[in-house]
Amino acid sequence: MSEITLEQLTSFAKTRGFVFPSSDIYGGFSAVYDYGQLGVELANNIKRAWWKAMVQERDDIVGLDSSIFMSPKIWEASGHVSGFSDPLTECKVCHTRSRVDHLLENIHIVADEKMSVEEINTLFLENMGKIYCPTCGNSDFTPVKKFNLLVQSNLGNFSGDLSKDPVYLRGETCQGIYVNFENVLVSSRKKIPFGIAQIGKAFRNEITARQFIFRTREFEQMEMQYFTAPETEMEEYKKLRRARWQYYLDLGIKEENLQWHKHENLVFYAKEAYDIEYKFPFGFAELEGVHARGNYDLTQHSQFSCHDFTYTDPITGVKFIPHIVESSVGVGRTMLAVLTDAYTEEEVDGEKRIVLKLPKPLAPYKVAVLPLSKKSEMQIPAKELAARLRKMWMTDYDETQSIGKRYRRQDEIGTPYCITVDFDTITDHAVTVRDRDTMVQERIAITDLEGYLEERFRSQTLPS
Ligand code: GAP
Repeated sequence: MSEITLEQLTSFAKTRGFVFPSSDIYGGFSAVYDYGQLGVELANNIKRAWWKAMVQERDDIVGLDSSIFMSPKIWEASGHVSGFSDPLTECKVCHTRSRVDHLLENIHIVADEKMSVEEINTLFLENMGKIYCPTCGNSDFTPVKKFNLLVQSNLGNFSGDLSKDPVYLRGETCQGIYVNFENVLVSSRKKIPFGIAQIGKAFRNEITARQFIFRTREFEQMEMQYFTAPETEMEEYKKLRRARWQYYLDLGIKEENLQWHKHENLVFYAKEAYDIEYKFPFGFAELEGVHARGNYDLTQHSQFSCHDFTYTDPITGVKFIPHIVESSVGVGRTMLAVLTDAYTEEEVDGEKRIVLKLPKPLAPYKVAVLPLSKKSEMQIPAKELAARLRKMWMTDYDETQSIGKRYRRQDEIGTPYCITVDFDTITDHAVTVRDRDTMVQERIAITDLEGYLEERFRSQTLPS
């Protein structure tokens, strides 16, 4: 069970170099964050693990990197221009804007995405006395209105008038997959069923921004769209759900912190929709969506682009518009789950030890080289050793303060192995290797070091 609060995690992530508020010296920029020197390593390792599981280890899924800017017609076809909106209200006292479905959720009332603005407004008014502004605590709100989440840009618009022919930053990465379906199908010579995966930035004008990197206005998604025949959609959906659950276990997430959430009120085209929820510091919430989407996406793009996406089965000759099952998760949300899961406080010799028990493949630094003293007899071989290990792994080098403090610093950022160069190293050509989790130390000959570490990293090559 996670003990850390979101405030503590936010502060921990900033002070250790994982996540900084965007534009920090200017007072921050709401709902946008920067990844620091350790955050970028952790994010890259998360993306690598996802790509390995989703593309590298599958012969039926290929990758893609489509552009952030696309024809605005794509967002009309997808329904985003008309329907990608959240219900918004404003506190009349302090002017804080809130999502009405979240305010209702706080008092255990569900307002799902299928409800009209009038229906949500009625529900909101009925419960007004029980709903309070999260900022000032008053209960005086403006009527509900729908607020579109698409972020507009002036790309290619030289008129100075933004309302003319708006262009959008993509609100989800999967639309780039749908519109490239045929390009990939033809050039890869894949046959249905097969999938296309991509990792990339998405942008949404989120109304509320109170949950650190859980919900941001600029974020990265890792999405895979699997194209199937109509009759095998639900079978593939079940397989995908199983694979995605196992992926999180392989990633090292504790199973008791995961749960399935079934969507009860589906949009008209969806066959079934589940979220994998993680127990974040503020409770269980969506980590990933796994959805069976029918043939809605390619049908819409067929109609709006006048391009026929009909697929002919090469064996049976049966024609159909491919159905899609989807897996969609954010990099930042995964990072928040991974940090929450790994953060541990222990008592060692009467003192608090903070240790990030990250799975080894996700750790920003794999090893740290620590000379026992700054004397050249130790500093020179330690620096040489660090340079040698850097060819294989992200390696930190630290010679400041006591060895105990340096061990603690590496524990806090999740470095699996600390290697100490000491007085004896000069004569026995060996170093001490300390394990982050057990704190057990072993004396290893310098010539055997790469093999020793390689063996330990190989025993956890996530995820498969
Ligand atoms: N293509 C489907 C889609 O985009 P979604 O439920 O809107 O579905 C999928 O988003 C995943 O993307 C979420 O489960 C979450 O992990 C991530 N995500 C969505 N909005 C986000 C935001 N504002 N900030 C961070 N991650 C977000």
